[in-house]
Amino acid sequence: MHTVRLVAGKGGVGKTTVASALALWEARRGRRVLLVSTDPTGALGQIFPGVGDEAREVAPGLEAVELTRRVVLTHWRERFGEEVYRVLRSLLPVEREILDYLEGVPGLEEEFLLSYLLEAEASGRYDRIVWDSAPTAGTLALLEAQALFYDHLTQAHRLYLKLQGYLKGADPTPLIEGWRRLTGEILAMLRERTRAVVVAQPERLPVVQGLELMAALARFGIGLELAVLNRVLDPQACPDCPPYAARASRQRAWVERWRAESPVRVTRLPELDEEPTHRHSLLRLAKILEGAHGGTHA
Ligand SMILES: Nc1ncnc2c1ncn2[C@@H]1O[C@H](COP(=O)(O)OP(=O)(O)OP(=O)(O)O)[C@@H](O)[C@H]1O
Ligand SMILES: [Mg+2]
Repeated sequence: MHTVRLVAGKGGVGKTTVASALALWEARRGRRVLLVSTDPTGALGQIFPGVGDEAREVAPGLEAVELTRRVVLTHWRERFGEEVYRVLRSLLPVEREILDYLEGVPGLEEEFLLSYLLEAEASGRYDRIVWDSAPTAGTLALLEAQALFYDHLTQAHRLYLKLQGYLKGADPTPLIEGWRRLTGEILAMLRERTRAVVVAQPERLPVVQGLELMAALARFGIGLELAVLNRVLDPQACPDCPPYAARASRQRAWVERWRAESPVRVTRLPELDEEPTHRHSLLRLAKILEGAHGGTHA
């Protein structure tokens, strides 16, 4: 069984709702689940009040955490900050403030956000990690940064090996090697033990972007588990209400497109009458998601 479920899609389509529903459902079935949100809007708190920047139990068997930029960078400093400073100082006349500057290096925040997931996975405390990710473009940039970072570190490592004899002071090789290993482990987690749940709504942009996201994930080597269309209207619910009927009819074309082009089976979630922040509505959605997951067509 894969350990990480990555829930992704355009902004506002229902990623946090779907991720919470899946996490709650699995916890109810006796699995130890960690729900991680990297969404900067903090919407997870609407569903699980009290969620914060450290993992804590929000329902039986379910822990949740909201990873902010600050938490991720603190984690980076604890793990690598001192060593990076020591190596740099031996090469250049730098002060400790260099670390503040380095926090802005592209790919670094993503690297450590993913290393948090890797550590959570390696801790053995969870059977499943559900990752409620930031919207589409950010998610892809994050994954691409991983691959670039890995290539860069491989190059850097070769260069330092050549220069080693000329450099005085601290040897950067163990640092680079450690970093490269970490990146390699993260890529393996993403490609071998992660499955994506792509969410969209039956409208032009969410569908087009969701399909692009599926293709990009496939190129990157992340398997797709579910293609979810959320907030689908029932055309029979109110055939005599003109705006409703018109919207339901507009949705149909996008449902068809999603079905035709998704490489995996499609799950449709209905538009609910209530805000799906309560357990019973989340479990209602989860039941549909998990039923479809078993293999029936939407
Ligand atoms: N099936 C549904 N029926 C009715 N309302 C829904 C449904 N799914 C989601 N919503 C509502 O839509 C809004 C957006 O959902 P959610 O926060 O899950 O989206 P998101 O993709 O995580 O957004 P963001 O990109 O901002 O993180 C919320 O108010 C949520 O309660
Ligand atoms: Mg969200």
